[in-house]
Amino acid sequence: MSDKPLEGIKIIDFTHVQAGPACTQLLAWFGADVIKVERPGSGDVTRSQLRDVPGADALYFTMLNSNKRSLTLDTKTPAGKEVLTKLIKESDILVENFGPGALDRMGFTWEHIKELNPGMIVASVKGFSDGHHYEDLKVYENVAQCAGGAASTSGFWDGPPTVSGAALGDSNTGMHLAIGILTALHQRNKTGKGQKVAVSMQDSVLNLCRVKLRDQQRLDKVGYLEEYPQYPHGKFTDVVPRGGNAGGGGQPGWVLKCKGWETDPNAYIYFTIQGHAWAPICKALGKPEWIEDPAYKTAEARQDKIFDIFAFIEEWLSDKTKFEAVDILRKFDIPCSPVLSMKEIAADPSLRASGTIVEVDHKQRGKYLTVGSPIKFSDLKVEITGSPLLGEHTDEVLAQLGYNAEQIKEMHAARAV
Ligand code: COA
Repeated sequence: MSDKPLEGIKIIDFTHVQAGPACTQLLAWFGADVIKVERPGSGDVTRSQLRDVPGADALYFTMLNSNKRSLTLDTKTPAGKEVLTKLIKESDILVENFGPGALDRMGFTWEHIKELNPGMIVASVKGFSDGHHYEDLKVYENVAQCAGGAASTSGFWDGPPTVSGAALGDSNTGMHLAIGILTALHQRNKTGKGQKVAVSMQDSVLNLCRVKLRDQQRLDKVGYLEEYPQYPHGKFTDVVPRGGNAGGGGQPGWVLKCKGWETDPNAYIYFTIQGHAWAPICKALGKPEWIEDPAYKTAEARQDKIFDIFAFIEEWLSDKTKFEAVDILRKFDIPCSPVLSMKEIAADPSLRASGTIVEVDHKQRGKYLTVGSPIKFSDLKVEITGSPLLGEHTDEVLAQLGYNAEQIKEMHAARAV
């Protein structure tokens, strides 16, 4: 096993809540020394949000801050500013997701940081991009989903705009930022110069809603969208409608009921009618006569009765559990999946074996589950360690910066750390 790819890279992790921490956690997994800088006494707000174990760091925190070190530092005190200055001089990357202008107000503008360390990469998450007419807004997950086009295009046509349970605004933005940081790092290896990397939550959501902007332009041109449930019987307006559970590309699909749906909210599968799988689908459903029937043979011919076809498939599914159904359909090469609950995912042996779901030890909590690296490498086994306690590494980091025991004691007494 080689050394970890990011070993030797030091990151000042000024992030909180989810968007920033998801980014720095990823970089920590890959070997970077990530020093989470937190306010003395309270730390990242997620340490105490949605607590399930009294007095212990909440899962919201532990699941987004593994593999890091924690330094408490009040960066508004002179001593705190001095420590941060020293840290900047010897780090490679500073990541932050404060509200707009907070880092500047702390006295650490990009210009100043660049002077202290010309190789420094400063990476920021904000709700909206610099210069945007909403640039002053503070933003959380669902705000970003609404601003980035996800909410207006999610949900059912007869219901309100709907946000996704997936963290499109938060963790997704963090992943975009990680790509930006690694790109800037690659550039710095060539030029020696750092740079500012900025990602907005609105932009990151929109990047994932690319196909909906595609649809807006198609709608503007032709007035309808043939893969949406509104076609051909319903009406289109001049904006991309909410399409329920329709497939987003050229393959019609829908969430279909399976045996037990009356009592189990997740007794469903997602079923896709991929064009070239039509013959196997007909065979699987016991409807071979549909294969050559001109009323069913092509995707175009099927579109006006697509919900009748789905209703027929639901009938076929009514005596099969979602797992039994997928076990039959997979033999026919039909793209489908059971709708998995979080409980089922947590217990899934394949996800455990691949390290996507991992059990981690924590000093206060004992064992807890978290999501491991979704990125797999041939030459790196990503090991997930527990998140740090608040200030667990304060003295260690200060000593590494050259402070002696007396100075560290004074900083504690002055509540600077
Ligand atoms: N020492 C001293 N002060 C500190 C500090 C430290 N270690 N860490 C943070 N602070 C201060 C900041 O300097 C800021 O002070 P100021 O506003 O007086 O200048 C203050 O804490 C509040 O920071 P802020 O980030 O604005 O916190 P908030 O709780 O008011 O807002 C968010 C939270 C998430 C809404 C906001 O940070 C934000 O919009 N971030 C950008 C988008 C984002 O990442 N959203 C969250 C996605 S999960």
